[in-house]
Amino acid sequence: MAEAVLNWAGGKRHLLDELYRRLPAAFGAYHEPMVGSGALFFDLEPDGGTINDTNPRLVGFYERVRDRPDDLVARLRELSGPESAPDPGLAFSETGRDGSAIQSYHYQQRERFNRRPNGEAFDDLEEAALLLYLNRTCYNGLYRENRSGEFNVPVGRYANPDWVRADAVRAASRALDGATVHNRDVAYVDETAEPGDLVYLDPPYEPTSPPRRSPTTAPRGSTARTRHGCSTWRDGWTAAASTSLSATAA
Ligand SMILES: C[S@@+](CC[C@H](N)C(=O)[O-])C[C@H]1O[C@@H](n2cnc3c(N)ncnc32)[C@H](O)[C@@H]1O
Repeated sequence: MAEAVLNWAGGKRHLLDELYRRLPAAFGAYHEPMVGSGALFFDLEPDGGTINDTNPRLVGFYERVRDRPDDLVARLRELSGPESAPDPGLAFSETGRDGSAIQSYHYQQRERFNRRPNGEAFDDLEEAALLLYLNRTCYNGLYRENRSGEFNVPVGRYANPDWVRADAVRAASRALDGATVHNRDVAYVDETAEPGDLVYLDPPYEPTSPPRRSPTTAPRGSTARTRHGCSTWRDGWTAAASTSLSATAA
């Protein structure tokens, strides 16, 4: 049985029972246009359908999990503990892009992960491995980017961080087999969902107070704007025969 491989802000792993209580007894294809860690998708393991997110590195991760699970696990096994010394054979072993000293292996991998937002060539399998590695070794398992799109969460404190997750990666790969993975705006589902399909919408949360600092989990626009745009889009959605479920207020 599959499960979410990543930790994600707003992840619904702990609300699965509530969500299942609200699912229709029968539906056609399953679509999750704001997938994040995909807690419901991976638990449900639907046949076909689509998942989507605006985060290109998250979408790339799912494509690699689906298509190259064994290569991904092999890359993950090559990585060292977050507190260990930077690897002198890899880039950013001494200083980061801003010239500051690299304090540990975790920070070296963070610099390597941030090649894409800095317009540098990157290896998509390596990027996927680093996404999972950083997710499992950073503070609170957060995914947060600065205004330049760089992942900027500091290292966390874990007695035994497990970033390989071989069984979870392979089970997730089987769950993703046959699913179409998009990197588009949520509204793609207008063209995709057929009458009788299930569309599960879980937009980012609107902060209850303004953030004290600039970083946001929504790299291309504020969370509030995304949520507002999503509601406006959903209010205008007239696919009456489709089943739309929004469990975000749970
Ligand atoms: C609350 S999280 C989803 C959590 C998910 N249900 C889970 O279990 O992990 C919302 C996701 O929506 C994505 N997102 C934000 N704006 C979007 C948009 N306009 N279209 C598609 N995805 C969007 C974010 O990148 C984030 O991953």
